[in-house]
Amino acid sequence: MNTKSSNGSASDEENIRPLIRESSFYSPEIIEDIQVKARLGRYRIRGFGTLRDLPSFKDLTFVTSGMSRVPLEGYREKCFTDTTLGTRHAKKPLQLKIPIMITGMSYGALSRNAKIALGKAATRIGTSTTTGDGGMLPAEREASNQLIYQVLPSRYGYDADHLRMANAMEIVLGQGAKPGTGGLLLGQKVSEEIANQRDLPPGVDQRSAVRHPDWMGADDLIIKIEELREVTDYQIPVIIKLGAGRVTDDVKLAAKVGADIIFMDGMEAGTGASPEMQLDHTGIPTMPALVEAVRALEELGVREEVQLIIAGGISSGADVAKALALGADAVAIGTAALIALNCNRALYVKDYEKLGTKPGACHHCHTGMCPVGITTQDPELMKRLDIDEAADRVFNYLNAMTLEVQLIARACGKWNIHDLEPTDLRALTLESSFITGVPMVGSNKVFGG
Ligand SMILES: Cc1cc2nc3c(=O)[nH]c(=O)nc-3n(C[C@H](O)[C@H](O)[C@H](O)COP(=O)(O)O)c2cc1C
Ligand code: SF4
Repeated sequence: MNTKSSNGSASDEENIRPLIRESSFYSPEIIEDIQVKARLGRYRIRGFGTLRDLPSFKDLTFVTSGMSRVPLEGYREKCFTDTTLGTRHAKKPLQLKIPIMITGMSYGALSRNAKIALGKAATRIGTSTTTGDGGMLPAEREASNQLIYQVLPSRYGYDADHLRMANAMEIVLGQGAKPGTGGLLLGQKVSEEIANQRDLPPGVDQRSAVRHPDWMGADDLIIKIEELREVTDYQIPVIIKLGAGRVTDDVKLAAKVGADIIFMDGMEAGTGASPEMQLDHTGIPTMPALVEAVRALEELGVREEVQLIIAGGISSGADVAKALALGADAVAIGTAALIALNCNRALYVKDYEKLGTKPGACHHCHTGMCPVGITTQDPELMKRLDIDEAADRVFNYLNAMTLEVQLIARACGKWNIHDLEPTDLRALTLESSFITGVPMVGSNKVFGG
């Protein structure tokens, strides 16, 4: 059949069947998102962290030694990693062997086995781990040589005796994955044991408060911190954890109210459950949040007094080295530690399929059906995580990251990984040069500077 019309233009048939093209505005993901919300009638909730690309440490590179600097010999010359945090007011600061800590992840979001495995790994390598919403698990205290106790607005599982047993306290004001909102534990994960621990009914969604009930602003927080210091006999450091948003003002206020350590959690931070929209559209990414926080401490003249922990999307020794070079005293990892435990590993593949996903693309922690036994309270699924084997993997991963940081530091001619500094870095993109104040590769100029 002749499909051309008499004047040679496209036929009617071609006209009504144009090329199959996806809209870049209404992409398949946006169409799917609208249709899911149309069925649910509420926002979507999921675990893991944002899936979008953000300016990050990957946009920086190290300039190592050559003629102008002498590198250290990897096999013979030491490169120190010891890290002390909380020197401002506490009688007993945290003494860590490495500057990579395990973040607070709630017993409830995580299984009992996962909590214990993280504690064991942290103890073996000489770093700290942290409780979470839901309080302290006695077995976690036992497994962890250095345990940080979270003081959260929800007060789930809060116990002053547990606080006294801790090596540091962390007053949580926000999280990078959901800044400005409280915690979320869906009913399917609220087993009898978790409900008991939190003094709440089992099987019911638990939306934790976002605002601490006993103080409203910075003035009250000064009093609250004094009270908590008194409870702990002024022994342990006070960390204030912030979700990165209004970084400069928040950091200055946190330092003013007396924090020994500030924990800044960037937009890439992971979670057990968060509204998806918040993961992708609220907060400041980790790298710019770190730069802003360091500047705020310098402006206040307390850079040497108050230590800074940075978290959110940290996954390799290179990330750690870049964070230290930009001014962090330590980093903390959550998601990466879960991945080392076995998260997203290609085991029990059929169970990933039941959740509608596959290994490598799972972010279904909120369902409580974690195929590898990490973010579940199901007794059968939990058994899939062998505590000692899981602890070995996390130990190996922490060790590998530490070796990576040392490798970079030695190549830059540093005896101590904490001597890494901005002049060791170059920016690979104009954006990262502008954000960090680090010169752009090839130009030795700071973009926008
Ligand atoms: C499964 C899971 C549970 C979490 N639970 C808590 C919590 O109870 N309290 C809290 O302050 N942060 C919680 N977080 C956030 C972490 O403390 C931390 O801010 C975040 O994991 C850092 O980012 P990363 O996961 O990219 O390393 C949780 C994170 C995950 C992945
Ligand atoms: S494997 Fe488990 S821990 Fe990892 S994203 Fe999936 S549900 Fe969460």
